[in-house]
Amino acid sequence: MKPIGLLDLAGETALFRKEILEGIQTVFETCRFVLGPQIEELERRLAEHSQCRRGIAVSSGTDAILCALMAAGVGPGDEVITTPFTFFATAGCIHRVGARPVFVDIESDTFNIDVSRIQAAVTSRTKAILPVHLFGQCADMDEILHVADRHGLTVLEDAAQAIGATYRGRRACSMGKAGCLSFYPTKNLGACGDGGMILTNDEAFADRCVVLRNHGQSRQYEHEHVGGNFRLDAFQGVVLLAKFRRLEELTARRQANAERYNERLADLPVRAPRVRDYNVSVYHQYTILCDRRDDLMAHLKAAGIGSGVYYPLPLHMQPCFAALGYKPGGFPKAEEAARRVLALPVHSLLSTEDIDRVIDEIAKFYGKKR
Ligand SMILES: Cc1ncc(COP(=O)(O)O)c(C=O)c1O
Repeated sequence: MKPIGLLDLAGETALFRKEILEGIQTVFETCRFVLGPQIEELERRLAEHSQCRRGIAVSSGTDAILCALMAAGVGPGDEVITTPFTFFATAGCIHRVGARPVFVDIESDTFNIDVSRIQAAVTSRTKAILPVHLFGQCADMDEILHVADRHGLTVLEDAAQAIGATYRGRRACSMGKAGCLSFYPTKNLGACGDGGMILTNDEAFADRCVVLRNHGQSRQYEHEHVGGNFRLDAFQGVVLLAKFRRLEELTARRQANAERYNERLADLPVRAPRVRDYNVSVYHQYTILCDRRDDLMAHLKAAGIGSGVYYPLPLHMQPCFAALGYKPGGFPKAEEAARRVLALPVHSLLSTEDIDRVIDEIAKFYGKKR
C-alpha cells in the first residue's frame, strides 16, 4: 500500500515548480537578491488578504515575533501573557527581548489559551498579550482585546499556523496591534526555506518594523535603534507569490479533509478537534485527543501512515525556562494535551481514500468495526 505522509512537501512544491523556476530566473537577471520587488508585491498581497494595511516580510516566523515585540517596546522587566502549549518560538522570543513569559492554561477542546484566565494573570508589569492561533484556529480574540483594552496592553497575534483563518469574520493578524506569520516550508503557505511576515493596521508600528528589520537603520549607516537582520530573500518572494495564488484552493482541500475526518471519527473513541462556531479554521494541523497515543502512533506507522505530536512538552516544563519557577501540574490542560494529542495527515494532496484509510486504521486500533 502507498504510504500516507503527514506532509507531502515534494508533491505540493511540484505543483509550482515551473512558475518558481521562471521567477528565480528573473531574480538572477536583476540580481536583487534581498527584499526587492517580489517581496514588496508579497507584502501588498498578504496585507490585503489579512485585512491589514501593511505587511513587513521578515526572515522567519520567529523573527516576525521578535521584531514585533521589539517594535511594541517590550523589554526587560515586562511580562507577556501567552500559552504554554505552542511552538517554542512564541515564548523564546519573549525571553529574548528580556521580558518574562507568563503562561495561562489552555482550553482542552480548542487547545488555545483559556481567555477566562487571562485577567487573573495581569500584573503591574504586564505589557502585552501574545495569543497563538494554534493548529489553524483563532483564539477567542474579543475577550483578549477586552482585557488588553482595560489594562492598556499590546496584543500581538502569533498566527504562524493560521494564515487565512477568521474569527467572527475577521482575519488572523488583523485584530491585535500586529500579527505574525511563518512561511516555514511545512506551513499552509510555505517557502523553500525560512520566511515570515508581520501584518498590521498601524502605520507607525509598520514603519518601526521596517527600520528594525534592517538593523534599526533609519538612513544609510545611521542607526536610531538596535534592530537585526530580519530581511527576506527575493527567492522566497518568488516561491511565496506563486503559492499564494492557490492558497485558498489548497486551504479548501484541507478543510474538506477535516470535514471528512469529523464525520467519520464521530463514533470512534477519539476526540476530533473542536472549532468554535464563530471561527473558520485553516487546519494547519488536524489534531485529535486520544488514549494510548503512542501505541496508536506506532500502529499507524506500521500501516504506512504518518502522524505527529505537537507538542510533547509544554513550555513551562522546558529546561531553559526552569528559572521561571513553574512546576509540572501548573497547567493541567496543557499537560494533558501534551500526553494525548496526535496530528493526522490533512494536507491538500490527500484523497478521500487516503483519509478513509487513516480512519479505518484508527478504528482497527481501538477494535471497532467500520
Ligand atoms: C505557533 C508558532 N509560532 C512561531 C513559529 C516560528 O516560525 P518559524 O519556524 O518560521 O521561525 C512557528 C513555526 O514553526 C509556530 O508554529
